[in-house]
Amino acid sequence: MLVLGIETSCDETAAAIVADGRRTLASVVASQVALHRKFAGVVPEIASRAHLATILPVAEEVLREAGVDPRDLEAIAVTVRPGLIGSLLVGVSFAKTLALLWGKPLLAVDHLLAHIEACFFCHPSLAPPLVALVVSGGHTSLYLLRERTDAVLLGATTDDAAGEAFDKVASILGLGYPGGPAIEQAARGADPAAISLPRTLLGEDSLNFSFSGIKTAVLYLCFGQNAAETDRKRPSPTEQAEVAAAFQEAVVDVLVEKCRRALAQTGLSQLAVSGGVAANSRLREKLAETAQGEGWAVVFPPKELCTDNAVMVAALGCQLLRKGEVTTLEVTASAEGAPPR
Ligand code: KG4
Ligand code: ZN
Repeated sequence: MLVLGIETSCDETAAAIVADGRRTLASVVASQVALHRKFAGVVPEIASRAHLATILPVAEEVLREAGVDPRDLEAIAVTVRPGLIGSLLVGVSFAKTLALLWGKPLLAVDHLLAHIEACFFCHPSLAPPLVALVVSGGHTSLYLLRERTDAVLLGATTDDAAGEAFDKVASILGLGYPGGPAIEQAARGADPAAISLPRTLLGEDSLNFSFSGIKTAVLYLCFGQNAAETDRKRPSPTEQAEVAAAFQEAVVDVLVEKCRRALAQTGLSQLAVSGGVAANSRLREKLAETAQGEGWAVVFPPKELCTDNAVMVAALGCQLLRKGEVTTLEVTASAEGAPPR
């Protein structure tokens, strides 16, 4: 069963071919980071135009690398939600066109479920029930999975996503874009306890997140409460490193505590972590330590499958195809996620 996956929900144009939901034949990710860097964030209009220019060469490259003839594909899977609407529309229109042209079934993939699917794909013995944390640039959500493709929302961010906070704090510190890897790099070797930053945990049992307070705390710490943007001096390398380490530690502490609560409240002992921020080494290390102490199992995809890619889309497509959940050419993109359950 060969499934072609297409992913264009944010700023990566990606295509992949997965065999039997288990094996990657080829994966191509064209990153738009260079285009968005000078804006310190993704500019939606630039993103959709870049997808338009890149999608066809990316798809051709993946077919060539995999050595697959389109006639041998079983189906085409595409991310239809959530994400930037202009970006999603490029992938969805492209996938529909291929489905029509090649006479293949179309599979509508939810981007967040695809991030979670990356955990199942990389850990074939992983089986529900489990708690999933999706922690990316657009989302920070905890889910209960009783079945592999059915996620019930337990909690989500009430303001910024964790990845968005990494990006914004990196911008405050002048560390460049994307912020997550830049902060991780700057924090290496610095003492995370040299500076104290808040951990916003909300109510005692809350599984929701809030990261806007810590971002403001970093801004005030670096520039004071009244510094106009024009007066701001770039922090020294030592300050950058200490603030980066303290920030990373605080975000990681919050994510770990929320996972601990979710597992305690659901009575489960398996945790699957995915999304761009799941590539963070300190998060991986601290969750692994906590899991060992608490007696749970924690899994992550390898780092290249944490950030946006089409392997996870094709892999989830294989699951949908097995369940007969084929969509029609009427399907359209949606900026919003599925209604919470
Ligand atoms: O999953 P993803 O590629 O796109 C979305 O679906 O949002 O996640 C991108 C986010 C960015 O905010 C980026 O800064 C963050 O993931 N990220 C990281 C790391 N690598 C990427 N955050 C912390 N540490 C990292 N190593
Ligand atoms: Zn993503």
